[in-house]
Amino acid sequence: NLSNFETPKSFKEIHEDILKGVDYVVNLPNEKKLANPSQIVKLKKDGTVVVIRAWAQIWQGHRNNLMNHKKALNNPIFKIISEAAEELRVDAYVIGGFVRDYFLNRHSSVPDIDIVAIGSGIALAKHVSSKLPHKPKVQVFKSYGTAMLRYNDIEIEFVGARKESYNRTSRNPIVENGTLEDDQKRRDFTINAMAFSLSASDFGELLDPFDGCVDLNQKIIKTPLDPDITYSDDPLRMLRAIRFATQLNFNIQKESLSAIKSNSERINIITKERIVVELHKIIASNEPSKGFLLLEKTGLLHYILPELIALKGIDEIEGQKHKDNFYHTLEVLDNISKYTNNLWLRWAALLHDIGKAPTKKFNKKNGWTFHAHEYEGAKMVYHLFKRLKMPLNDKMKYVQKLVFMSSRPIVLAQDMVTDSAVRRLIFDAGDKVDDLMTLCEADITTKNPTKFNKYHNNFKIVRNKIIEVEARDH
Ligand code: CTP
Repeated sequence: NLSNFETPKSFKEIHEDILKGVDYVVNLPNEKKLANPSQIVKLKKDGTVVVIRAWAQIWQGHRNNLMNHKKALNNPIFKIISEAAEELRVDAYVIGGFVRDYFLNRHSSVPDIDIVAIGSGIALAKHVSSKLPHKPKVQVFKSYGTAMLRYNDIEIEFVGARKESYNRTSRNPIVENGTLEDDQKRRDFTINAMAFSLSASDFGELLDPFDGCVDLNQKIIKTPLDPDITYSDDPLRMLRAIRFATQLNFNIQKESLSAIKSNSERINIITKERIVVELHKIIASNEPSKGFLLLEKTGLLHYILPELIALKGIDEIEGQKHKDNFYHTLEVLDNISKYTNNLWLRWAALLHDIGKAPTKKFNKKNGWTFHAHEYEGAKMVYHLFKRLKMPLNDKMKYVQKLVFMSSRPIVLAQDMVTDSAVRRLIFDAGDKVDDLMTLCEADITTKNPTKFNKYHNNFKIVRNKIIEVEARDH
């Protein structure tokens, strides 16, 4: 009786079940190569256990398969899509991020919904629109066979199930109609290939041929097909794998990671705009360093942000070393992410030291120097934004300014913090002074506790002085 698993029972209830001879699914500890081997056993009155059936799958996956998920589909839009699909006599499914995020309990107030129809997605979108109160506009992308409409701020994308093959030089697919499973296998990851049925007969049923639920439970990013095929079909997926691993704190399956390494150069055929969307999402994660370490390990960073690769390594001359500015940068980025969700302030943390690579010099008297690296770095920010087709507007200027000023508070905090120096800092930083202080505090990565406390205390003095001076001057 598998339903026993839905609610964990007390020992007393289990004992009663034993007396009745009820079957149980038992989770066994990980063993050799078996992923969470499970068994259906009969517990006998004398305490012995009879194995009825055994398999090497995580039970949660099976449980999810056995369950109906109507409650995930309580937004009235799903009933409307279901009726529209019935009327057109096509099967329709919710697929992708909506299903994944339901299982992860990642609730978004206005989720994006992806619908796949076994037939024309465009016709279904138009029919759905005709049933909605304000008959929202349907945007059609004919060459992709997709259509999109908005309903109460929810973006709903419709696509016909596809059997896709891609041409090698761009990511534009050659579209051919297919079954649901054809469509699922051409998707990026098993966790993004799960679908809920919207047909009246099995509304809410999970269709998960690639065990996405198992991978969700094991926190694994894995492709439904051979990763070489999935990544070379659409190289952006290499970046998406790293983005999901970072956002969800998942691991990328070994085979997938090697496929990313060997295909990394193909990221060059992807538009900068799409790359930047993923970069933003990595930077906006709780622990962005995880993503950057993966980008570095797979070789992708070299093509996307070579300025960061140039910060890697420690040189030593005559016994004098400098710190590895790549790992230092990632630490600063993680530090700042604890205090701010401001994406551009996080970008400033990521780029605050990029000027150190081209300005690095060694001389006997001073050891390693990075003279005017802030000035050089600010110039590099412009070129980097331009190359990645990021906006060259006030956001870029904001990042530039923070990079340019990133050493000012440190220099100031090393001496007596005078009113006039603080006034100059406020004048130069303007309304960015608070963000600049946050950046500088995050920049303290010394492992020496005495120094760590000293710098933080000095910054506290600077922050207090800023408040005092501002109050006095207004
Ligand atoms: N997809 C894919 N390959 C891509 C992009 C998307 O196979 N390069 C598929 C996946 O099934 C994905 C779905 O299309 O789940 C929707 O894509 P998208 O909206 O970009 O991402 P989500 O998975 O919804 O996740 P998020 O909203 O976090 O971007």
